[in-house]
Amino acid sequence: MAEKLDIGGKLLLLGAGKMGGAMLEGWLKLGLDPALVGAVDPHLPPEAATALATTGIAVNPDLSSFGTPAVVLLAIKPQMMAQAMKTVAPLFGPGTLAISIMAGKTIDGIASQLPSRTAIVRAMPNTPAAVGRGITGAVPNAFVTPAQKAAADALLRATGAVEWVAEEGLIDAVTAVSGSGPAYVFHLVEALAAAGAAAGLPADLAMRLARATVTGSGELLHQSDLPAATLRQNVTSPGGTTAAALAVLMAEDGLTPLVEKAVAAAKQRAGELAS
Ligand SMILES: NC(=O)c1ccc[n+]([C@@H]2O[C@H](COP(=O)([O-])OP(=O)(O)OC[C@H]3O[C@@H](n4cnc5c(N)ncnc54)[C@H](OP(=O)(O)O)[C@@H]3O)[C@@H](O)[C@H]2O)c1
Repeated sequence: MAEKLDIGGKLLLLGAGKMGGAMLEGWLKLGLDPALVGAVDPHLPPEAATALATTGIAVNPDLSSFGTPAVVLLAIKPQMMAQAMKTVAPLFGPGTLAISIMAGKTIDGIASQLPSRTAIVRAMPNTPAAVGRGITGAVPNAFVTPAQKAAADALLRATGAVEWVAEEGLIDAVTAVSGSGPAYVFHLVEALAAAGAAAGLPADLAMRLARATVTGSGELLHQSDLPAATLRQNVTSPGGTTAAALAVLMAEDGLTPLVEKAVAAAKQRAGELAS
């Protein structure tokens, strides 16, 4: 049996919304001891608070007696950071690791709200985390120890894959590719469905075909060891229908330059939001 998730101490989750909630679910599935987990989210609807409490974690615990956490995971909206950090900063000890998934909040910005020399990991997950199939880009600051990096890796891995990047400057590009990427794929479904309707299919059938094509292709890609290019070539007979469509998509002014432009726009916006 796989080893149970153990981060060597208590975990405090700040913000139990969509992303924080998905992560929490993943941790508990991996066997993290609920008695070691506290979740702070002051505006939780009563039903949500009750559901969370049934997992055995402490919901909105009395922080004055929570003790020093091994990890504080910041899953609040970026605009709530300053206010929320005031509550948790006093809990930090010299060994406490902060993991932030807040879009656009830099390590320096987070560090300015915490005791000096605090270990911080900045991470950027994406929404497939909700079904355990996310991917997170992460970067540590200079104070993160190897054990803390391993704990962060295990916690972030609970919702999918983790890629560590060499410098914080790359996080804007990670945001532009995988953070925002699910929306590009959903838009591809919309575009394919609209094209199907333009080709004469009833709109609802076109949408079902487009949706199943994207989810099925994603699953095929997931289950295969082959590169995406090989999977593409495998369904492209010379002179056939797929080849005719790909000639359009792979033209000099086709999909690649368009996606490059979209990713560049997202990266630029990520940089603007961070400054
Ligand atoms: N969703 C994504 O795809 C995604 C991807 C990458 C990164 N992120 C980042 O993940 C973070 C959370 O996003 P989300 O989509 O999960 O947002 P969300 O669903 O709104 O979750 C944030 C939660 O934090 C709560 N909260 C507000 N003030 C708080 C405080 N002072 N202390 C503790 N909790 C507080 C919110 O309560 P109220 O609703 O009552 O304010 C809400 O339940 C954001 O920083 C976002 O940038 C999200």
